[in-house]
Amino acid sequence: MSYWRGIIHKYKEFLPVNEKTPIITLCEGNTPLVYAENLARAIGFKGGIFLKYEGLNPTGSFKDRGMTVAISKAVEAGKRAVICASTGNTSASAAAYAAKAGLRAFVLLPKGAVALGKLSQAVIYGAKVIAIQGNFDDALYIVRKIGELMPVEIVNSVNPYRIEGQKTGAFEICDALGKAPDYHFIPVGNAGNITAYWKGYKEYYQVGKIDNLPKMMGWQAEGSAPIVKGYPIKNPQTIATAIRIGNPYSWQPALQAVHESGGLIDAVSDDEILYAYKLTASTEGIFCEPASAASVAGLIKLTREGFFKGGETVVCTLTGNGLKDPDTAMRVCEEPITLPPDVDKVVGVISL
Ligand code: F0G
Repeated sequence: MSYWRGIIHKYKEFLPVNEKTPIITLCEGNTPLVYAENLARAIGFKGGIFLKYEGLNPTGSFKDRGMTVAISKAVEAGKRAVICASTGNTSASAAAYAAKAGLRAFVLLPKGAVALGKLSQAVIYGAKVIAIQGNFDDALYIVRKIGELMPVEIVNSVNPYRIEGQKTGAFEICDALGKAPDYHFIPVGNAGNITAYWKGYKEYYQVGKIDNLPKMMGWQAEGSAPIVKGYPIKNPQTIATAIRIGNPYSWQPALQAVHESGGLIDAVSDDEILYAYKLTASTEGIFCEPASAASVAGLIKLTREGFFKGGETVVCTLTGNGLKDPDTAMRVCEEPITLPPDVDKVVGVISL
């Protein structure tokens, strides 16, 4: 069969699966790598920008790459239920893959801090949704305790199978470009994805599929930047709710990725994130969610600082689909004009 059947079928030899593993897939992966010449021109970047648009995965975020592996392995191990803490995307993905696998799903979300689209996904896929009166870090703490007490599989990136699946994002980029980019820009929340991409690049390098490695450039939101600051943040804040995390689980591997690759991890403000969010949509026709735009915001920041020599190839991972959080788009953009059904009145507001 030649049609796309998801990342496990495609990248089996790099994944911890065997012929007995039941493959639970929604045909995730194979997402577009969009050449962003308009964005480059708009920000004065003198090289090639590629946007890895992970918002086109089945549940609208990169989490599906890790979830297909985590859920397949849970089924292989005979598990009946999965649990996760989430700022929204992990819960949407866990709920969908659990539904496909016939497993029960329990998701713990920080109350009032999850975009409505994501919450609606968890609900419609049939997960038991528990809103915690606390933040993501509180929810993850509870999930890890429950994992010790009850026969339920944790599908946060605490689960190493999640990282395994997510590393396929790096494989796809290398397959498309024929090499690794010079720089890889990526938002950082719980720090699993930067860890996963670096693992993917290194594995492709080790088997000779590529002969260069990118510098890993991680971006946190200023109000939720524990790794940049060097200490956990008790009450993290940012408009980019997906990365509103004060004590990331993969803190050390993320730092290792940055150090080994010669990259960096830094923060961008909510204003910088929103600017990048709007610019990506209006120049490239790509609607990502605010957290995803942290990668582009980081690229804009470094371009303005004169960081680049010119001629570099960079990839920004756009981690999630903007449709998950339409409220933010409506808040930061101009209100639609309301007019009576009258041709002249409409002509009056169209300036060509
Ligand atoms: N972008 C989006 C859209 C996310 O949902 C997340 C994480 C990240 C970036 C950061 O990735 O955690 O691997 O560093 N969302 C998690 C969730 C925390 O629960 O959906 P990370």
